[in-house]
Amino acid sequence: MKAPATSANVGPGYDIFALTLHEPFDEFEITLTGEPGIAITIDNNSQNIPTDPNDNTAGLAAMELLRARSPETGVHIRIIKHMCSGGGLGTTGASCAAAVFGLDRLLGLNLSWNEMVDFARKGEVASGGSPHADNVAAALLGGFVLVKSYQPMDVLKLELPDFPVVLAAIKKSQRTTRGFITYEIGQEKLKEQMARCARVIHAIHTHDIEEFGKAISQDYIHEPVRGAAIPGYWETKKRIIDAGAFGCTVSGGGSSVIAFCSQELQPEIAAIMQEAFSTAPGFAQVFQTRTTNHGVREISS
Ligand code: HSE
Repeated sequence: MKAPATSANVGPGYDIFALTLHEPFDEFEITLTGEPGIAITIDNNSQNIPTDPNDNTAGLAAMELLRARSPETGVHIRIIKHMCSGGGLGTTGASCAAAVFGLDRLLGLNLSWNEMVDFARKGEVASGGSPHADNVAAALLGGFVLVKSYQPMDVLKLELPDFPVVLAAIKKSQRTTRGFITYEIGQEKLKEQMARCARVIHAIHTHDIEEFGKAISQDYIHEPVRGAAIPGYWETKKRIIDAGAFGCTVSGGGSSVIAFCSQELQPEIAAIMQEAFSTAPGFAQVFQTRTTNHGVREISS
């Protein structure tokens, strides 16, 4: 199975928007075992991701699902890492999505997408302590997802046009920065924030990447905190926009940076990111990729 990177928040949509990327991705092999329990093994585990199911997002998501639907089942989850974790690429969400999607298929549960999202998001607690649904929903469904409601869990997939993306993958220095976010943004910023969420959705419906880029490039909730944690973020964002990109923001929980631009401009934006961030602590790689409407899926081994 293959589960894609996702970029959550997409500017103003804190915890309610995410989109799916064609690359990078992680691979997973999920097999049922003869006795109850969850075993996790990780190939290429250069970041020492925990394999105790209580501390691993795939393990916790699987545990939630099995406890509710099939307590006697045992499972082995093999994670083949290609992505760097802890960098705003939705890797923890990809793991949760793969575990739930795989178990649904293997056990013939026929869960609805909303049920899968609800189990999968509980796995996120093992990483950031919060069961946000944005990354797992995008990893499961592909495209652009809008969390319509958390109670009850209800997500909507919007088909995305093929938007070129440049992404600098940078690992966070702290485990999570959510705790530093302030929700007291005041009336003027609140109105602007809501307006921008509406603009993002409208831009997707009208396939307008320029408007999409403008709408995602301002956020008053998470970007002030996460942008401040990335050395050179604000100056580099300005350079990226001045060079002609449509928009730029922090990807997910940071510290990755995502920009949308024309295909012709991708190498130039990638070069700006490479120059600006390659010396940053936790820098991994700059990707020239694009959005996709495919979420987690089975691949032949
Ligand atoms: N919405 C989540 C956050 C995404 O901003 O913390 C984490 O990838």
